[in-house]
Amino acid sequence: MKTKLIVALDVDSSKRAKEIVKILYPKVKIFKVGLQLFTAQGPLVVNWLVKKGIKVFLDLKLFDIPHTMVETAKLICKMNIFMFTVHIQAGKDALIKLKKIVFQEAKKLKIKRPLIFGVTLLTSQRKNGTSKLIRLVKVAKEVGLDGIVISVKDLDFLPLKLRKNLLIVSPGIRMEKIEADDQKRTATPKEARDKGIDYIVVGRPILEAKDPLKKLKCILRELR
Ligand code: C5P
Repeated sequence: MKTKLIVALDVDSSKRAKEIVKILYPKVKIFKVGLQLFTAQGPLVVNWLVKKGIKVFLDLKLFDIPHTMVETAKLICKMNIFMFTVHIQAGKDALIKLKKIVFQEAKKLKIKRPLIFGVTLLTSQRKNGTSKLIRLVKVAKEVGLDGIVISVKDLDFLPLKLRKNLLIVSPGIRMEKIEADDQKRTATPKEARDKGIDYIVVGRPILEAKDPLKKLKCILRELR
């Protein structure tokens, strides 16, 4: 399967997170810990996942001054996670320094370094300008980030050569075309697969499903 699935553990307790993992792992191998769960449980829940052999996507969308970004990245490395996010809008200076420290820390800790993904535009925002999107992706490329977070729909506005050598993560995935929530630019898993997206992130469609495992199977079938 070329397009891989990441499940967003957007819940407010590790009890709930563990329940979901119990249902979906090992069918799902990568889980995302975002602001909600991290605020509730901090690194404890991340450590629990990592110890279980699960790849963790730490989606804290770092956006701060270079010094704070660098010091935070050091701590992130200590968690031995698979990938994490930064806002590309934090700027080249911050991103270059952050990348350097991630390489250094991983070497020091003798671990595989986490992949760094740059957030372009949030998928809940209506399309607010291709030029901004292109500007952000250019920065990600110049800095040499591993990949970008971009909606499947926005990918259409990206020249192919800009996309080259960048891994693509896409949230805002919905099975049904119109679902009334805050994701404005949604796409189906099949669309994501057809566009060669590397990772899709799915939260609520699985978390809120009556039968999460059944929903998961539907999504995996579409990705095949
Ligand atoms: O519940 P839903 O499937 O909409 O979850 C999407 C997940 O992806 C959320 O955890 C959200 O924080 C995250 N995300 C996003 N848009 C981005 C980056 C991350 O929706 N640009």
